[in-house]
Amino acid sequence: MAAYDIVIRNGKVADGTGKTLFAADVAVKGDRIASIDSPGTLRGDNEIDAKGKVVAPGFIDVHTHDDTALIDNPTMAMKASQGVTTVVCGNCGVSAAPYLRPDVGHWMSLIIKKKENLSKDFAEFAGKVEAAKPAINGAFLIGHGTLRINMMGDDLNREATQAEIARMRGLLDQSLEQGAIGMSSGLFYAVSSAASTAEVAEVAQPLGKWGGVYTAHMRDEGDHILKAMEETFEIGRRAHAEVIVSHHKCSGRSNFGRMAETLPKFTEAMKKQQIAFDVYPYIAGSTILRTDMLERADKVLITWSDKMPGMSGRDLADIAKDMGVSMKEAGERIQPAGAIYFMMDEKDVQAAMSHPGAMIGSDGIPFDAHPHPRLWGTFPRVLGHYSRDLKLFPLEDAVRRMTSYSAQRFHLTGRGQIERGYYADICVFDPATVIDTATFEKPTTPAAGIDTVLCNGAIAWRDGKPGGGRAGRALNRRQMQDEAKA
Ligand code: ZN
Ligand code: CU
Repeated sequence: MAAYDIVIRNGKVADGTGKTLFAADVAVKGDRIASIDSPGTLRGDNEIDAKGKVVAPGFIDVHTHDDTALIDNPTMAMKASQGVTTVVCGNCGVSAAPYLRPDVGHWMSLIIKKKENLSKDFAEFAGKVEAAKPAINGAFLIGHGTLRINMMGDDLNREATQAEIARMRGLLDQSLEQGAIGMSSGLFYAVSSAASTAEVAEVAQPLGKWGGVYTAHMRDEGDHILKAMEETFEIGRRAHAEVIVSHHKCSGRSNFGRMAETLPKFTEAMKKQQIAFDVYPYIAGSTILRTDMLERADKVLITWSDKMPGMSGRDLADIAKDMGVSMKEAGERIQPAGAIYFMMDEKDVQAAMSHPGAMIGSDGIPFDAHPHPRLWGTFPRVLGHYSRDLKLFPLEDAVRRMTSYSAQRFHLTGRGQIERGYYADICVFDPATVIDTATFEKPTTPAAGIDTVLCNGAIAWRDGKPGGGRAGRALNRRQMQDEAKA
C-alpha cells in the first residue's frame, strides 16, 4: 500500500524561501505536505510526473476583491488557473462583511452581486464562504469604507463623529475576534476621502490588540504620493499595526520616474516599522471610471457600464468620437462604469516589483464585464515575462515574492512554503512555457504552462481546467495564530 495520497515526482522544487531549485519528490497526505525526499523514492496512490517542471508553493494573491467571488464562482478558475491557492480579500477599503444595511448600494455592488451574500457579521460571512466549498482559500480584511457606510449611511462627505468612530472600532474589533486578518482603507475613494488621518488611526486601534495588518490604497498615488505614504505609515504606527501599501505605483505621466523617490522612502521607513507593499505587473491600473482621472492616463478602456453594457472593452477616445463629444462628456454619459487607465512607467513598475519590500498581488476585479487582464494573468506574467524573459529577478525570488514572503507579511501560518507539515498548497508549472495569455483585448483566458494546482491536498486545477478539488477554506486569524504558537 502506498504511504501517501499524492506524490509529485521528479520535479525541481522552488520551496518559496528563495533557496536554489533542487530535485525532489514531494508527498501529500490529507491536507498536508508529508515528505520531501530524493527523486524517485516516494510512492503514492496518485502520482504526478513533474519531470522538467517546477514544484512551488501555491501562490498567494495578496491583493484581491474576490470576497464574494469565492461564493458565486467557487471553482475560482481565474485564480486557480494561475497557480493561486489563497486570495487576500477586502482590499482598498471595501469588504463584503460586516454589512449592516438592507441593500447592496452602489459602492458595495463593486464586490457584492447577490443580496444573499450580505452578512451582518464577519463570522456569518466566513460561514457562507466555507459552505460554498471554494477551490482555493480566502483570507479577509475588513474595509474602512464599508465600516463608514455601515455607520454613516450616505452622509459620507465628512469626518466621522467620535460616536461613529467608536462604533466602527467596535465592529472591527468584533470582526478581528471572529477571524478577519486586518483592516484595509481606501482614502482615494469618495466614500472615505473625507476621513482624517486621526479617524482611520482611531478606527484601526483593535489591529494592535489582535495582531491584524493594515493595508492602504493611499489617498494619493500621483503628485502627493510622498505625503500619502507618510500618512499611511503614521496610521500604522498609531494603530501598532504592520503596514502594507496596496498596488504601489507612481500614477500619471508627470510622476513617471518617481519610484526614485518612493522606493528609498520605503527603504528608510522599513528600518523603523514593519512595512511592505504589493505590485501588479502591468503599466495600466483599473478601478471605477472617474472623469478626474482621465487627464493622467494615456489611454482609457471601459471595463463595464451599467447604463451602456455595449461600451465594455472599448477605448473611451473612440466612444467620445462616436458620440461627437469630449472624453469627459462621454465618460459622464456612460456612468456608472469601470475603466482601465494606462498611467504608469514600465521602468517604475519593474523597480517597484524588484524592491525588497515588494510582493505580488493582482488587484483583479472579478465581476467586471471586460476586466483588466491582471485578473487572469498576473502570476504567470511575473514568472514568464518578468523573471524568465526579462530576467528582472531569478525564478526562485519571483516565487518567494508570491509565496513565503506574502504568507509572512499577512501571517498566513503554515502556507507559502514547500516544507514538511505545511498545508499542501502547491503549484506545478513548466518554467520554459509559463506565461499569461490574457490581454487587454481578450482578458479572460487561462495562462499557459500551469500544470497542476493543489489546495489543501485537493486538485484545484489540472490540464487547463478546474480539477474538481473544492478544499479551500476561509482562513481564520485566531486559528492561524494558535497554529503559529503550537
Ligand atoms: Zn486599490
Ligand atoms: Cu484593489
